[in-house]
Amino acid sequence: MTQVYLNGEFLPLEQAHISPLDRGFLYGDGVYEVIRVYKGRILMLDAHFQRLESSLSKMRMGAYLTPLQDVPQQLLAKNGLAEADALIYLQITRGAPPKRSHFFPPADTEPTVFGWAWAFQQNPEWFDPGMTVITLGDDRWARCDIKTTALVPNAMANQRAKEAGAHEGIFIRDGAVTEGTLSNVWGVWDGAVRTPPLTNYILPGLKRAALLGICGANGLAVLEAPIFEHELATADELFVTSTPYDVAPIHKCDDRVLPAERPVTRRLMQLFQEFVAREAR
Ligand code: PDD
Repeated sequence: MTQVYLNGEFLPLEQAHISPLDRGFLYGDGVYEVIRVYKGRILMLDAHFQRLESSLSKMRMGAYLTPLQDVPQQLLAKNGLAEADALIYLQITRGAPPKRSHFFPPADTEPTVFGWAWAFQQNPEWFDPGMTVITLGDDRWARCDIKTTALVPNAMANQRAKEAGAHEGIFIRDGAVTEGTLSNVWGVWDGAVRTPPLTNYILPGLKRAALLGICGANGLAVLEAPIFEHELATADELFVTSTPYDVAPIHKCDDRVLPAERPVTRRLMQLFQEFVAREAR
């Protein structure tokens, strides 16, 4: 039976109840993290907590920061995942005040804090032949740097990608790539790696940050600069990074099949797995 964490206690999923007045339910008014576990070892836990803290602060929910340090390990232990490949989900919402109002609830309203873990397997198609992606207009709000649970535009775009037979959708805003529906986007032109710069229009992905570090440590030329939509047609290689994907090559982008050789992506995939072997704990 799945054991989840809710507001300070671990309990069976069936017994985990949340008020329908919760602002997460009524407004999507919450933040979250998705954390990757490799054979029971957690990757970049501190960075996930730092980003959670940053999201809370940007949402003016800083006071809601609860000590959750042990929750991920406990979720793994209580769900038989101590040796498993898994994902851990943490969410904090602005709680359930007795009245509905757009403005924030009284300061003494308790946040709702939820944790969940499940076994996870990557889709082998992401790597062989690689991801199929479609481009879509980026119709999200202007604070995509906040990891909020209000994910309707991402969900709708991901569904459109699925219906088009694709694995992922790539958002385009004003003629430039922002990010994927749940990933950051990268390209390679003449051996040089490029990913869009951090702005309010993209999430500061932790795998993005890790890969920038890996590139730097291994002397690979990398640029944080815009990728324009028209450049998708000339990229030698394209790939995405995220917690579920790691580094996953793009095989086909809209109608264009990319070259099957992808030497830079291959090298980065290898270096990323070495990073996981070193850093997951
Ligand atoms: N999403 N951009 C968006 C919009 C995302 O939702 C994600 C991750 C990323 C990659 O971030 P990271 O490398 O830290 O996983 C970029 C998670 C996995 C999700 O919503 O399920």
